[in-house]
Amino acid sequence: MDSMASAKDRSLPKSSLLQKVTPLEGRRFVVVSNRAPFAHVRDGAGVTVEKPPSGLTLALEPMMQATQGTWIANASGNADHEFVDERGHVRQTEEIGYHLRRLFLPPRLTEDFYTGFSNSALWPLCHIAYHQPRFEERWWRAYVRANGLFAEAVADEIGEDPAVVFVQDFQLALLPAMIRERRPQALIAQFWHIPWPNPEAFRVCPWRRELLHGLLGNDLLGFHLLYHCNNFLDTVDRELQVRVERESHGVMAQDRLTTVAAFPLSVDYARIHRRVQQPDAREAAARLRRQRAQNRKLVLSVERMDYTKGILERIGAIHRLFDRHPELKETVSFVHIATPSRTGVRAYRDYTAAVDRAILRVNTAHGRPDWQPVQAIHQYVEPEKIWNWYHAADAVVVSSLHDGMNLVSKEYVAAGRDDGVLFLSEFTGASRELREAVFINPYATDAFADAMAAGLAMPEAERRERMRRLRLRVANADVGAWVHDILRAIHQREFDAQNALFTPRARARGWKGPAAVRAGGGDLEAAAAPGPARAGSY
Ligand code: G6P
Repeated sequence: MDSMASAKDRSLPKSSLLQKVTPLEGRRFVVVSNRAPFAHVRDGAGVTVEKPPSGLTLALEPMMQATQGTWIANASGNADHEFVDERGHVRQTEEIGYHLRRLFLPPRLTEDFYTGFSNSALWPLCHIAYHQPRFEERWWRAYVRANGLFAEAVADEIGEDPAVVFVQDFQLALLPAMIRERRPQALIAQFWHIPWPNPEAFRVCPWRRELLHGLLGNDLLGFHLLYHCNNFLDTVDRELQVRVERESHGVMAQDRLTTVAAFPLSVDYARIHRRVQQPDAREAAARLRRQRAQNRKLVLSVERMDYTKGILERIGAIHRLFDRHPELKETVSFVHIATPSRTGVRAYRDYTAAVDRAILRVNTAHGRPDWQPVQAIHQYVEPEKIWNWYHAADAVVVSSLHDGMNLVSKEYVAAGRDDGVLFLSEFTGASRELREAVFINPYATDAFADAMAAGLAMPEAERRERMRRLRLRVANADVGAWVHDILRAIHQREFDAQNALFTPRARARGWKGPAAVRAGGGDLEAAAAPGPARAGSY
């Protein structure tokens, strides 16, 4: 049970804002996502605990530990069923500091809900990366059904408790309205981890209104960027007969308010930074350098094997780099770690084959007997080992065609060397924050190649100063700040709901928020206590 054994290492850094997480008025905290934070996998050697290549799950773990909440997610390991009780709760989770309840969606349903509607319709729909979404009715029905099964699990989990339910991402767009129908006492928030496109792009989805109604079941809906919030509000305005309040970033639908706000996701800076300073990690990084780069520069990329990551465009730019700058041959090695992902989707399989062909082309055109321009690692690499890779690298290239945030860039800033260089696509959410990166446009092959050449030749003093500033940025806006801001915004919605109790209309309806019952009628002063959330400040 690897991840359980290393749980102590995950103790929260002293400086983290996670220390200040508020108790949410005594409500239980429940997170729901399709992807689980870990899976039990059995092979010839026994059972291991595996973590998925998902920035989402990695980012949420500290939040779960801080709130000691319950996480509900679809099972994905072939031995997952061996480690749960009759309600799907994983046994013996004391060491990881939160609870996990596994949902076992039938394989055929998972195929249509996950491979089909989530990853072949919604994913390309929201990422404008010139990949056409497909809309099959069978997939849509599976999406509705799978969201319904998640709703039943949440309803069973929280019962009549006044819980906060925090839903994750595009696989669960219908879930908020479904929870609200079953458990009106719940406070529901959702974070949408991918971009929200403009209304013109979104309107090709035949079930756009159903998706929007599902999302308006939320009290609070978060995106990485203000730009995505505005796209969402424009889409709602265009598609539904509801009131969009531009100033407060709210949508009033059927007498209920959904607040929309930006919360840029980040990483656990202190933990990652501290980990790579340990002697064993430094030794591992030095070993990787020796093995992979010898005395050359090592330029790294890390991602899921996904067409939105611009892997083909990057390999094309590397090809062009050696065409235009032949003097760089044998001075630099590109290592590219792409974890296989969503292999049930045809587009992903085709993409993997195209990447393999492109690597072969560049290595054949430019390689020398003892040097290959690009070394590919197409397998799962654990997060802690990836941090060692970052520390071994002279530079990291993030070439996404469109990315909601991109946590690889922030992890690199936390784990990389003091003199490392970050090449960052201007089409990532992270590019709004990481202003000292060297920006690249993955579509502009020549300029991309020249930017890499210039970045590799950058004087050491400038590299160090840029990295110093990047580190300050990520350390000041780490995942603790994200959790803090979201919980504060949820807290504020709690008080809004209490205040609603004092309107004559709510009294007439006899609505009683459980938190309001606890707080009593005279607590309006306390209700005003938290400051305004950082809603819309990005
Ligand atoms: C993106 C999505 C997440 C997802 C992750 C890994 O970051 O926003 O929702 O979990 O990719 O993808 P997977 O399909 O393996 O869960």
